[in-house]
Amino acid sequence: MAERRGLIVYSSKTGNTKKLAEGIRTGLAAALAETRIAAVEDSPDPAGADWVLVGFWADRGNADRKALNYIKSLEGHRVGLFGTMGAYPDSGHARDISRTVQAVAAEKNTVLGCFLCQGRIDPALTEQFKQLPPDNPHAMNEERIKLHLEAAKHPDEKDIEAAAAYWLSMLRPPVAEIPA
Ligand SMILES: Cc1cc2nc3c(=O)[nH]c(=O)nc-3n(C[C@H](O)[C@H](O)[C@H](O)COP(=O)(O)O)c2cc1C
Repeated sequence: MAERRGLIVYSSKTGNTKKLAEGIRTGLAAALAETRIAAVEDSPDPAGADWVLVGFWADRGNADRKALNYIKSLEGHRVGLFGTMGAYPDSGHARDISRTVQAVAAEKNTVLGCFLCQGRIDPALTEQFKQLPPDNPHAMNEERIKLHLEAAKHPDEKDIEAAAAYWLSMLRPPVAEIPA
């Protein structure tokens, strides 16, 4: 079987995406040959990796700047994306983030997929939103308070398990490559 060397790169401001990245790595470790993990600030070299997973935190409807710059630096790779965000994973906003980031990665790479889950919103940001006038889209009405409270519980064990299972199925070598 061909060597299956992988690289997981994550960008994380408050720890949610780092936690998810480490959970994915643990989930993949037993099944896939060698998986390196690194923070985006360390500018890990993707040369020789069979696949690169890039983790980001959602920032104003896109991947955060550091993750986005790293994604843009990749060329000719098999790239998978994962991210944490305040929004619900089944929301239109989540779909937009997924599409936007995948489109950036697809410019110069083959995109393997995108996994998103919620992540605790920085309480300082929640406090800022509480000061906004009611007509602002981020103003803390009842629905948004509920969203922030739900996000605060993530990423949880279920998210991490789901992310690891998602990438395990996406990265597993095709059956034809598994020796009899
Ligand atoms: C400046 C800022 C902008 C954000 N923008 C979005 C956004 O556009 N959509 C969203 O769903 N969450 C947004 N969030 C929430 C974060 O993406 C979320 O809390 C994420 O889990 C943080 O990840 P980290 O702990 O790895 O830094 C934003 C948070 C901050 C601080």
